Order: sequence, then structure tokens, then C-alpha cells
Amino acid sequence: IAHGKPEREAAWWRSRAGDLIARAAAGTPRYVYHLPTVRERARMLRETAAIDRRFYALKANAHPDILRLLEVEGFGFECVSLAEVEHVLATLPVLDPARVLFTPSFAPRDEYRVAFDRGVNVTVDSVEALQRWPEVFQGRALWLRLDLGRGDGHHEKVRTGGAEAKFGLPLAKVDAFVAEARRLDAKIVALHAHLGSGIDNPAHWREVYADLASLAEQIGTVDTLDIGGGLPVPYTPESRPFDVAAWRSGLDEIKAAYPGFRLAVEPGRYLVAEAGALLVRVTQVIEKDGLRRIGVDGGMNALVRPAMYDAWHDIHNLSRLDDDTVAAFDVVGPICESSDVFGRARMLPASTAEGDVVLIADAGAYGMAMANTYNLRALPAEEILDV
Ligand code: LLP
Repeated sequence: IAHGKPEREAAWWRSRAGDLIARAAAGTPRYVYHLPTVRERARMLRETAAIDRRFYALKANAHPDILRLLEVEGFGFECVSLAEVEHVLATLPVLDPARVLFTPSFAPRDEYRVAFDRGVNVTVDSVEALQRWPEVFQGRALWLRLDLGRGDGHHEKVRTGGAEAKFGLPLAKVDAFVAEARRLDAKIVALHAHLGSGIDNPAHWREVYADLASLAEQIGTVDTLDIGGGLPVPYTPESRPFDVAAWRSGLDEIKAAYPGFRLAVEPGRYLVAEAGALLVRVTQVIEKDGLRRIGVDGGMNALVRPAMYDAWHDIHNLSRLDDDTVAAFDVVGPICESSDVFGRARMLPASTAEGDVVLIADAGAYGMAMANTYNLRALPAEEILDV
């Protein structure tokens, strides 16, 4: 655990420790994003012939340079709020709105209305929306988001299917939705399911495709099946990198079994998580009741994933990569919450001291995107590394 597995030894940031320490001098907490890593991940997905439409879930990281890169790599964009739609259209002025998918949750009426006006694709997941706002949906092309009755993912808080989850039209209501859409002269052109985030089961997307395809055959007007995002990344020392090749061949097979549909995916984390790191600076090292803690200048305000999902992020002291004498430390932030802990009992250089630059790895997804100003702490800075 101390210095990670072999893949981690080869991480992009390792050979750049000196440069990162210099950049940290401009202020911490600071996110850095390595664009070549994003490009490499994008190309891994682009090589899948079976996938016809790729939407990047920009809630993971909406940095303009990342959006520009992914546009060039042929991605469209999946947005969950009208603000995300406006952000991507403003950042990429020549982007065809047909490459944008708006997948809101419990959005107010006007977000749907404006999204249709902007010409982007719009997902609906309730009969109630059609009934309450017929004028908004009349004559439109609709993407229908389904709850297939199950969820999956790295933590219960990121599972987006099943009765507990607020997302998606349950299968029992599909007939009612189809009837209501027909009444409004609206056409269901796509079926959509995103059942969770950080999904380990490689068969997941195939199964979702099969479920959507058999429903689509009954509905008859569907052109696209969107099987969501949720591709995992190897955060923990034990985890293996996601087998993209196996994922791809699974999709090839299932698409051949149910031909005639365009296949869409909408990954977020996979594209950006490992390309980002959070740089923080050691403020104090304190021993209390036999436990040693390293304090750093950004905490759950800068990166909430450990506090919110007990998520693991590798932690490295960039200032002491050569020190092999390790000791166990809890790594904590400056926030007034007991959950403000990045990691417990992490093996870090025993010489760790005030002023050291610490790197929190794999923080490119849902890092800055979820950062906040709790305790009136400033938001982290962001910086792009292009080589
Ligand atoms: N599509 C939809 C409709 C989604 O709701 C999401 C993520 C994605 C795609 C992209 O999922 P991804 O490929 O990134 O797993 N904050 C949590 C993750 C929340 C995901 C929300 N929805 C975390 O830090 O783990």
C-alpha cells in the first residue's frame, strides 16, 4: 500500500513530482488534470465499433479544456442540469446540439422547455411530466429513461435503479407512458438506463442492452439504446484496471444478437478519474492517543468522496518519494467535521512534515465537480497539464 502497485508506479504524476511541487507553490488545494490521459481513455472507448454514440457525463468534470478535448475525440455530452447544457454549448460554440443529451432528475418544467428549444436530446422518466406539461412534450422526440428494477455501483449512494432510487420509469408504467406519448403525438426515439456508477460486473452493460432491446422491439419507434455510464476505475491497491477489451466484445456480441439499434454510452468517471489529482499541503503533523495524523490544507470541501462514500484514494507525499521509512498516519483536512478524513492508517513517509506537498490520486472525476465552500474555505484551483 505504501507506494502502490506496479501500475501506480507508472502513473503520470510520478515522473512529474518536481513540476507538481512547483505548481503547488501557486496555491493549494489545487486540482491538476493530465490531458494525455483523458485522450488515451477516450480512444480506448472510441475503438469500439459497436458504440454509435458516446456522451461524456460532464457532471464528473466540466473543465472547458476537457470538454474541448472530448469534442475533438468524437464525444457528445450528457448533462443533468440546464446549466450543464448551457455550459457545454457556450464552451463548444460549433457543437451540434444533437450531440448533447439532457438527462435531468426532477427538473422544473422550464428546464425541459428550454432544452427542447436549444435542440438537444431530452430524457424523460415519468408519466407525470407528460401529463402535467403536455405543451412542453407535444410532438417532441423523447428519450425514455427506465428503471430496470435493479441498481449497481461502488456504493449504495450511487445506485440509480430499483425502488429505492428516484430515477427512471418503472417497467410497470411503460404502457402508460407509451399511451401518453402517443396522445401527445410525441415519439419515443431512444431508451435509456443508467443503473449506477463504478460497476464491477462486466456483464452489466450487456444485460442492460438486452433488456432495453426487448422493450424497444415492443415499442417500435426506438432507434437508440443508451446503456448509461458507470465504468469503474481501479482506485484501491487491490483493484484491477477495467477490462475494456472484454467490455467491448460483450457489446459487439449483444448488439449482433439484437441488431437494428444504435448503441449509446455515457461514461464520466472512466474518462477523467485517473487523469486528475488533488494537490494539498501539509499543515500540521499531530500525535494524539498514539495515533498520528497528517493535516492538509484541503479536506472534504475540496474532495468529498472519502467522506461521502468511504471512497479510497491513494495518497502520496510528493516531497518525500525517496523516503522509504514509512509509518501509519490518518490524513485529515481542516474542516469542522469528524468525517473530514482522506484516509486512515495510510503508510506514508515517517519524515512527513509541515510544508510537504501531498497528492491525492485519481481525483479527476467528481472531485472539483463536488467541491464546496463549507467553513468558507475557498474552492480549489484547477490547472491543466498537456504533456
Ligand atoms: N449517466 C447518468 C444518467 C448518470 O447519472 C451518471 C452519473 C453517468 C452517466 C456517469 O456515470 P460514471 O460513468 O461517471 O460512473 N459522485 C459519485 C458518482 C455519482 C454519479 C452520478 N451519475 C462518485 O463520486 O462516485
